[in-house]
Amino acid sequence: MKKLFLFTAAIFAVAEVRAEVGIADVFARQTTSLNGKWNVIVDPYDTGYFDYRRQPYDAGGKVTGGYALDKQAKDKSDLIEYNFDTSPTLNVPGDWNSQDDKLFYYEGSVWYRRKFDAPKTAADHRLFVYFGAANYEADVYLNGQKLGKHIGAFTPFAYEITALAQAKNNSLVVRVNNSRHADAVPTVNTDWWNYGGLTRDVLLVETPATFIARFRTQLKAGTTNTIQASVELDGAIQGQTIKINFPSLKIAAEMTADKDGGARFELTTPNLALWTPENPVLNDVVISSGEDLLQDRVGFRSIATRGTDILLNGKKVFLRGICIHEEVATEGRRAWSEADARMLLSRAKELGCNFVRLAHYPHNEHMARVADELGILCWEEIPVYWTIQWTNPATLKNARKQLYDLITRDQNRASVIVWSVANETPVSAERTKFLKSLVDEARELDGTRLVSAAMEVHSGTMENHPGAQPENHKIVDDPFGEYTDLCSFNQYTGWYDGTLEKIDRTTWSIKYNKPVVISEFGADAKQGLHGEVLTRFTEEYQAELYRRTLPMLDLIPGFSGCTPWILFDFRSPRRPLPGIEDGWNIKGLTGHDGEKKMAFDVLKNFYAEKAKAAAAK
Ligand code: GCU
Repeated sequence: MKKLFLFTAAIFAVAEVRAEVGIADVFARQTTSLNGKWNVIVDPYDTGYFDYRRQPYDAGGKVTGGYALDKQAKDKSDLIEYNFDTSPTLNVPGDWNSQDDKLFYYEGSVWYRRKFDAPKTAADHRLFVYFGAANYEADVYLNGQKLGKHIGAFTPFAYEITALAQAKNNSLVVRVNNSRHADAVPTVNTDWWNYGGLTRDVLLVETPATFIARFRTQLKAGTTNTIQASVELDGAIQGQTIKINFPSLKIAAEMTADKDGGARFELTTPNLALWTPENPVLNDVVISSGEDLLQDRVGFRSIATRGTDILLNGKKVFLRGICIHEEVATEGRRAWSEADARMLLSRAKELGCNFVRLAHYPHNEHMARVADELGILCWEEIPVYWTIQWTNPATLKNARKQLYDLITRDQNRASVIVWSVANETPVSAERTKFLKSLVDEARELDGTRLVSAAMEVHSGTMENHPGAQPENHKIVDDPFGEYTDLCSFNQYTGWYDGTLEKIDRTTWSIKYNKPVVISEFGADAKQGLHGEVLTRFTEEYQAELYRRTLPMLDLIPGFSGCTPWILFDFRSPRRPLPGIEDGWNIKGLTGHDGEKKMAFDVLKNFYAEKAKAAAAK
């Protein structure tokens, strides 16, 4: 708790009146949805944010003008040049790009306004507004007062509004700006659509004066039947009792909160069924303290590596994976709901996957929760992607905050086994130093999961491969691999590097005695385009690339899994090829019309063999 406030306060102390509050596990408590139609003002010149001197109207905290005040003309001579009541609406959650053709390419500010009532069930109760995410920066105001600014497109944030909220007719105004900046995370260049807006759930949270800010459950290291749990309170804590109960396991405990409002439990139960993809056992957990109550479902498992093996509950596992972007391709929009998560993960299940890489940023909370249920292991990642400003302290702080917010949100998900801190970042000392500090952050926050990244590969000669042609010999000796649990990297032999026949000639040198996970490979294919196998963009080329790549990877010592690029085609501003790409990255095994491509079955068959082999062991 202390760390959170210090952290956020440090970043935001200068500009903002209130720090973000640490109210985790909102899906485990009663909340009121503020989703729905919000009135919006598209503001390309930020007229509603800056005064004529280009000074923010909320510089210094007090809002002196602009759209945040949500004003209405008092009478016919009153000059107000905006009106949220008569402004168009957009759906929240939802990106603005897919909701209005005029906003398809729009990058800039959009102001959102939602009116809501906030009757409290008890006078001493507290109120918070919680946002699942907003791309990229969000300035949040309530009844004309500034609540705060959140930076980062894919992480949750919340503000306490107890002092500002009124029982009726509150005005919640959010300026969302998705402009790209070189010092941001991600930076200006990515290969996914810059979907702007309030892209995830917005919730009103009412709590007792003292509430459960967050809880953590995990399997005690080295055991198969001992649960460790920690609970943190927010508010007056003196002598407050904290209770934890696992009804289905018939174990419970209670204790008095310590001076920091925390409590740590250890509970042992003889018959603890461990969570696996084949048997994704989830246990109800009820945590209560005073009037407050949280109910959730959690699984218990251990994940570790030993040499080049990945061990799930002490047993070697092969990761049959696929990469997923947080998008519903058939509707060309950001995914946000439980139904979206179920659709994406069910398609991965159909492929025979027990693992998914949620690329390249924290997906919505429903993904890991549905993965818990369906029995799919997850790799979660923060968008330290390509050429980040490695020596910019603000950029590092931003990346660390996103990692902190992700881990805090999903730390109770049994499905999540890997925290990834980066993707395809060119090797340099500054870069490796930057990434090392993220690894340290992840390990400090959560020492129970694997930490990795999609690392770099280069070609060349190695004395232990005397015969190999340098151009056909791939070397994985990225210095960052020193600090990770996995030796994971992307490789595009046969697509960006050579053509199909090169795959058969490719050999590897891997510097690290760690499990090798291929975090990407693939080829673009337009769904329904057929032709001679060597013709790029045909389904035949893509299928043949899979047919040749999978056995090539199987020869790599320590090959423990892969997540080919990618389950569905996805929108990308970098893919203009008319009649073929038309603004889509088409490396999906499923087209953006939802139709499977030939390569889908090639991978499915490979995974069926792997599953059969694993089951036989
Ligand atoms: C890269 C990158 C992806 C990208 C893919 C591609 O490896 O990590 O984000 O979409 O390659 O080029 O299709």
